Amino acid sequence: MKLFLDTADIEEIRTVARWGVLDGVTTNPSLFARTSGMTYDEILAEICTITDGPVSAEVVAEDAEGMLKEGRHFAKIADNIVVKVPMSETGLEAISRFAAEGISTNCTLIFTANQGLLAAKAGASLLSPFVGRLDDINEEGMVVIRELSDIIRFHEIESEVLSASIRHPRHVTDSALAGAHIATLPFKIFQQMVHHPLTDKGITQFRADWDKARKALEAAKG
Ligand code: E4P
Repeated sequence: MKLFLDTADIEEIRTVARWGVLDGVTTNPSLFARTSGMTYDEILAEICTITDGPVSAEVVAEDAEGMLKEGRHFAKIADNIVVKVPMSETGLEAISRFAAEGISTNCTLIFTANQGLLAAKAGASLLSPFVGRLDDINEEGMVVIRELSDIIRFHEIESEVLSASIRHPRHVTDSALAGAHIATLPFKIFQQMVHHPLTDKGITQFRADWDKARKALEAAKG
C-alpha cells in the first residue's frame, strides 16, 4: 500500500521524503489555511520539487466550469498534480471532463461505496473515502474502504482507493488489510508509526550497554 502525506507543510514533506517512504501528497483548503507566507500555487510547486508522486490540489469552485478552470491551472504547475474534486453532481461532471482532457483527478469527500463507484465511472484516478469523519459520527469508516476496494478489484476498475481522514496508526493497518491502494496520513501519524516504547527503550539500552562495555575494556587495558 502506498503512503501519502496529508499536509501542506513543506518541512513535514521534506522530512518524510528523507525517510524514503513518501509516495505522494494530498492537500486541501483547510491544510493550506494552516500555512503562511506562500500562495497555494507556490506551495504546490514546491511540493512537486520534493516528490514525483501524485500531489493533490483541491478546487473550491461550486460549478463545473469554475472547477475546470481551477483544475486546468493546477495541472499546469507540474506533471504530477492531481486535481482534487469534491463528490457532487457538478463534481462528477468536472471529473468526467477532466478525464476527457487527460487530467488526473482525486474525488474527495466520499462517504459511501456508491459515491466511490460513481467517481470511478466518471473517470477519477483516486477515490478518497473519509474514514475518520465517518467514525466521528458513529459509523464504520473502514466498511467503506473494504466495500469500495472489493468493488474496484472485482470489476477490474483502474481507479485506486485512497483511505483518507486517518486519525490513528490502527487506521493505517486496517486500511491495508481492507485492500486500500493508498492511505494518506498526517505527519503525526507517520511519526507514531515509527515509534514503539519497546523500540525506543531497546535503543537506549543497547547504547548504554555499548558504552559500558567500551569503558570496561578501556579500564581492563589500563
Ligand atoms: C485527504 O485528502 C483529506 O483531505 C483529509 O484526509 C481529510 O482529513 P480530516 O478529516 O482529518 O480533515
